[in-house]
Amino acid sequence: MNRNVAILGATGSIGTATIDVLGQLADEGWRAWGVSGHANLDALATACEKMSLPPEWIVGSDPGLAAQFDSRRWPSSSRFESGAERLVALASADEVGVVVAAIVGRAGLESTLAAVEAGKRVALANKETLVVAGTLVCQAQQVSGAEILPVDSEHSAIFQCLQASQTPAERIILTASGGPFRDWTREQMEEASVAAALNHPTWKMGPKISVDSATMMNKALEIIEARWLFDIPAESIEVMIHPQSVIHSMVEFVDGSVVAQLSPPDMRLPIQYALTYPDRVACSAPRFDVTQRWDLSLEPADRDRFPALELGFEVAAVGGTAGAVVNAANEAAVALFLDQKIRFTEIVPACRKALENHSYERHPTLQRLIELDEWARAEVQRWHCGANF
Ligand SMILES: NC(=O)c1ccc[n+]([C@@H]2O[C@H](COP(=O)([O-])OP(=O)(O)OC[C@H]3O[C@@H](n4cnc5c(N)ncnc54)[C@H](OP(=O)(O)O)[C@@H]3O)[C@@H](O)[C@H]2O)c1
Repeated sequence: MNRNVAILGATGSIGTATIDVLGQLADEGWRAWGVSGHANLDALATACEKMSLPPEWIVGSDPGLAAQFDSRRWPSSSRFESGAERLVALASADEVGVVVAAIVGRAGLESTLAAVEAGKRVALANKETLVVAGTLVCQAQQVSGAEILPVDSEHSAIFQCLQASQTPAERIILTASGGPFRDWTREQMEEASVAAALNHPTWKMGPKISVDSATMMNKALEIIEARWLFDIPAESIEVMIHPQSVIHSMVEFVDGSVVAQLSPPDMRLPIQYALTYPDRVACSAPRFDVTQRWDLSLEPADRDRFPALELGFEVAAVGGTAGAVVNAANEAAVALFLDQKIRFTEIVPACRKALENHSYERHPTLQRLIELDEWARAEVQRWHCGANF
């Protein structure tokens, strides 16, 4: 297997964890062959300096920021290019065997799709690509034979649990930590600050996914992601709250047997498994400690306090243009919330309103999905200016 890895979004939470994993696997021939960053080029240059073998190809996806950056910081042996279209070139380069899709949001769509079209093994963290364009990604995968292996810990767990039987699963049960507002009332959430929303109890992640975890839009996106990854209908997907984030998800088979995957919360394990599958190799993530007491609890999810969940099930059921619209509205609303321009509790209503106001199509083209993405972002901005969600 070709062990040259392209990390799209190497400066983020998943990207840096991937660099760590590749460092641990260097003796087995794994390396970061290509890397990309967007705004944090300084961090990217520092990460490249620390690698025992510098990347062959480095992409700065924002050309303006790349032009301002001191090019002497790049390793002399690396080729540096800038622009979003160079991400697509890196994702489909012949020399690359595995693409880790770790860009946040819809910005990862074209490069992830390019990796699928090029028949790569795609270690998929960028769930938004499947949310926006699940049908097109699955069609491209069928043509190219690409392998899409989940990096999301829940989907990695499901992927591992499914290997317990040749009989298809009847249900998959996604676990959710419940985020920082798991026990908060709607009234308390009305006043939630940005700092409180970013303060995830069990995971350290980028700001967008941290806010998504607080609204539980992250779980909604994962419901949609699961629908496409495992080709399973929305009604066969359940969500349960599991605050400890040790049971990463479960599947139920026809005989009622439920199989779960457990490990202390650390993204290096699912990242590594997406790289080395079907092999398992030693991982630097913490091990399950049998000398400590584990109180692992599971409870039903509260769809009234977390209306994002209902949206996720609806979008997973109808597909078409719904995912692109809800995802874009969510990205726009989260950005407004992070800028302290809207309340936390306005994020999900903005997504609901965009979904209901758009003109649904069952079989959209990529171009149409991109148009609707832009439309939904503009609508959220427009509503915000009219202060009316
Ligand atoms: N973090 C987790 O534990 C976790 C778990 C499961 C799934 N995921 C998924 O993994 C993805 C990444 O999450 P994260 O937490 O790693 O996010 P993050 O820490 O915010 O990192 C985002 C990455 O995307 C790059 N980026 C941002 N805007 C971009 C743009 N317009 N064009 C190209 N690149 C851009 C960033 O570059 P700069 O930093 O250089 O600006 C950075 O490398 C998301 O889809 C998330 O849902 C994350």
